[in-house]
Amino acid sequence: MTQGMLRDDALKGRTIIITGGGTGLGKAMGTYFLQLGANLVITSRKLDVLQKTASEMETATGGKVLAVQCDVRNYDEVEAMLKQSLEKFGQVDALLNNAAGNFISPTERLSANAFSTIIDIVLKGSVNCSLALGKYWIDQQIKGTILNIVTTYAFTGSAYVVPSACAKGGVLAMTRSLAVEWGRHGIRTNAIAPGPFPTKGAWERLLPGDMAAKFDFKNRVPLKRVGEHQELANLAAFLVSDFSGYINGEVITIDGGEWLQGAGQFSALEMIPGEMWDAIEKMTRSAK
Ligand code: HXC
Ligand code: NAP
Repeated sequence: MTQGMLRDDALKGRTIIITGGGTGLGKAMGTYFLQLGANLVITSRKLDVLQKTASEMETATGGKVLAVQCDVRNYDEVEAMLKQSLEKFGQVDALLNNAAGNFISPTERLSANAFSTIIDIVLKGSVNCSLALGKYWIDQQIKGTILNIVTTYAFTGSAYVVPSACAKGGVLAMTRSLAVEWGRHGIRTNAIAPGPFPTKGAWERLLPGDMAAKFDFKNRVPLKRVGEHQELANLAAFLVSDFSGYINGEVITIDGGEWLQGAGQFSALEMIPGEMWDAIEKMTRSAK
């Protein structure tokens, strides 16, 4: 599905901050938010990338985009980014914690700094942004909304991406915790757990070289395909809009069934050719 889902004015007048909004999935979600009438703040470490994306987005949608350099690991930079956003747009209504760092590695090969670098970007970065926005919203009595991008291995853990799994698990715990604590202020906190959605940033670090062909993610997904960026953008737009006004503390998986396929004890039986099932049925029926 490559079509937008919500009506054109669904996010009209809303200002949304997207961390990591200059590339990949952040860029895709941001472009759709603009099409729905939102103002956008995109933020990450590389100002040149952000500025190029901002100008592409403005040309494509006619919306307003502010590009702000901000390393989410540093709380002072996050506060400064929020201040700049308020100066430009007057109010901020939603935060999309999308920035991440990740790479595959056997855990014993990691330095302590490699491990904490991922934790700092993903967990501390999401905490820093949520904290700054939460303080502002509660002070100003604004019913803001937080949407966190996690992964399906936030539930299960995963070998070879252990720092990311620890960090995303922490972001999921934060999602559920804040949903309860800040619910009384009208602040909603939700998460999306995407399956495989090809992006340059993720594929270069998780499936480098010919690994992309050898470990083709399509084969792990019951629907036998990867996700379309617009499919994720549709879900994200719904979750930051008022149409999801009673959804709080939820994590929605969008993965074509991938993680459940990995969890089901007998799912690997899909390898059995259809013609073998007559013989197998005979054997199972003969069991007395
Ligand atoms: C082992 C590594 C490493 C690698 C870096 N390090 N890459 N160790 N294997 N491949 C170590 C370094 O040696 C250093 O430790 C420490 O990690 C910090 O590295 P820096 O390069 O100084 O960090 P920094 O410049 O902050 O860059 C962060 C980064 C980089 C995470 C390493 O890849 C990055 O900027 N990533 C951002 C984008 C990204 O990762 N996108 C993918 C998200 S995908 P020492 O000890 O030497 O100092 C995702 C999808 C999940 O999350 C699910 C998919 C299905
Ligand atoms: P991506 O393009 O590499 O996006 C990551 C973004 O994070 C980049 O724009 C990067 O920009 C920014 N970033 C990294 N470190 C930062 C920091 N310290 N401060 C601020 N920004 C920082 O990868 P993607 O695939 O679109 O991933 C987006 C999100 O989706 C991530 O949360 C990822 O975990 C999640 N996800 C992706 C998939 C998938 O299949 N693609 C699956 C599950 C979950 P700079 O380098 O300019 O800082």
